[in-house]
Amino acid sequence: MKPTHQCNQIDLKLENQEVIVAGWVQRRRDHGGLIFIDLRDSNDLVQVVFSPETAQDAHKLAHELRSEFVIAVQGKVSKRPEGTENPNLTTGEIEIMADELEIINRSETPPFVIEDSGPQVSEDTKLKYRYLDLRRPSMQRNLRVRHKATMAARNYLDKQGFFEIETPVLTKSTPEGARDFLVPSRFNPGKFFAMPQSPQLFKQLLMISGFGKYFQIVKCYRDEDLRADRQFEFTQIDIEMSFTDEEEIFALTEGLFADIFQKCLGITIPTPIKRMKYHEAMERFGSDKPDERFGMELINISDIVADCQFKVFSSIVAKDGQVKAIVAPKQADLSRKQIDILTDFVKDFGAKGLVSFKILEDEVDSPVRKYFSDEVLKNIIERTEAKVGDLILIVADKPKVVAESLGRLRLKLGNDLGLIDESQFKFSWIVDFPLFHYNEEEKRLDSEHHPFTGIHEKDMELLDIDPLKVRSRSYDLVLNGSELASGSIRIHKQDLQEKIFRILKINKEEAQQKFGFFLEALKFGAPPHGGIAPGLDRLVAIMCGIKSIRDVIAFPKTQSGTCPLTGAPSEVSEEQLKELGLSVEEVLE
Ligand code: AMO
Ligand code: AMP
Repeated sequence: MKPTHQCNQIDLKLENQEVIVAGWVQRRRDHGGLIFIDLRDSNDLVQVVFSPETAQDAHKLAHELRSEFVIAVQGKVSKRPEGTENPNLTTGEIEIMADELEIINRSETPPFVIEDSGPQVSEDTKLKYRYLDLRRPSMQRNLRVRHKATMAARNYLDKQGFFEIETPVLTKSTPEGARDFLVPSRFNPGKFFAMPQSPQLFKQLLMISGFGKYFQIVKCYRDEDLRADRQFEFTQIDIEMSFTDEEEIFALTEGLFADIFQKCLGITIPTPIKRMKYHEAMERFGSDKPDERFGMELINISDIVADCQFKVFSSIVAKDGQVKAIVAPKQADLSRKQIDILTDFVKDFGAKGLVSFKILEDEVDSPVRKYFSDEVLKNIIERTEAKVGDLILIVADKPKVVAESLGRLRLKLGNDLGLIDESQFKFSWIVDFPLFHYNEEEKRLDSEHHPFTGIHEKDMELLDIDPLKVRSRSYDLVLNGSELASGSIRIHKQDLQEKIFRILKINKEEAQQKFGFFLEALKFGAPPHGGIAPGLDRLVAIMCGIKSIRDVIAFPKTQSGTCPLTGAPSEVSEEQLKELGLSVEEVLE
């Protein structure tokens, strides 16, 4: 029996018509006389009814059905009897009265119930049986949205005159700040390929080759700690253009996202997307990827407490530190213990403590109340606009620590207090990043993005005098507090590129060894160019309203970087190692 319809195509318009559907048994409810089956295909569920009166053979066979059996059913579409409709199903108004049943394949009892509302299953079990997990309607939907987004991106970029060009996976290290995945070369024992952290240098080479508009929907590989929004391998919509500038790239990217959101969700994104300078984002949100779906911004009160009696604050202001506050609305009734938990939370991000002021009807309650004059308190309340019933939380430290700890606390409280409207999509461009940041451990400058990032013409002379003040021509697109895309106008002059390497203390030999091929290419008429790379996994996760990108990747790795399905990574044979000229030292468990 070959299916005539997908489950989601069956509705009242087909009433009394014969159809054939095929799929998996989600549930069997045996009422002795009538047997009900929820049949699931890749699109939806439909209820099938087997009656001993109308289809004796099929009814008899239906007793054998168990979860996840593969079946085909022929039957008549019927309106469900009044009162038995299921408003939670798209096919809830109808059922199929079966005439014939074919058991195409049997299934062992699956290790977990394949339903979105089924009991919680461990990540390991889900990924070990990922092919079963993927049968769940939400996973089918997520991968469908992913497909639609990919197609929309491809079509949009094609229409804008971009070429999709593939770049190598076995290549040389591209610096994006993570560790490389290395692949040993059998033909060149002792030598290794690096898998690309991004196609950054190849796309720049393609600009030098004269392909003015390049794109690629491409896997990138980074050996970094896995998190909800990070996997070892992930996909970028990688874009590069010649003779371009920020305005053109912003317009192109906004058009791309507008198109994807329209096609996948039917949502119109308001464009142009607003821009925010890096320093403003850090000041107001303590983060370069601000979540603007709620307020609770960081408020600087350094000037107010500069001369106060609380020495922790006044001494930090005197040492060029910062004192900043956030206001947790209606949280004045938090217990001592709950505030201790918040204090421990900020300490994880380097803060040394957390001062709290509870704004009560006729007083301010705080463990450090006695150090603050009424005047200072009044000014803090005025500046922070705290109301009766609110809780003011304050951190004093170096600006970096204040931003990190209070920015994180803001996000935590925003989530915990349900202040975030999950139905919103809040985009912003973050611009004017610093070109470098200071690496405390290694006592040298590091690129904020990557060393090929261009520089604002006005800041060029600062390169030698005050490099930390130099602004780069890079930009990030942030959506709901997540960095969705990152890009820049690049350096296209060899002398400037070499100078940047010098400032980064990458010496001549090292630069030559790592990027010599690229520096050489810059000598042969490199056009000005720039680009961007949105992360497809993060985009789809946000569109599906999901926290972890694992749920929009068909076969992801676990948090600890393994694949329970295939058992990767795994040991290899002595023979393979020998061929590669490798030996494995004792592995410490
Ligand atoms: P960047 O390193 O910022 O830039 O990466 C661009 C985008 O890719 C996504 N992304 C990731 N997604 C999932 N897991 C990861 N481990 C991961 N790492 C990055 C993010 C990020 O914004 N070559 C530059 C782009 C350019 O300058 O054109 C680059 O790779 O959404
Ligand atoms: P202490 O004097 O260390 O007992 O701290 C008194 C109060 O100030 C406690 O509530 C601490 O959490 C808080 N505190 C200490 N250092 C800081 C700081 N750098 N920023 C904010 N609060 C602090």
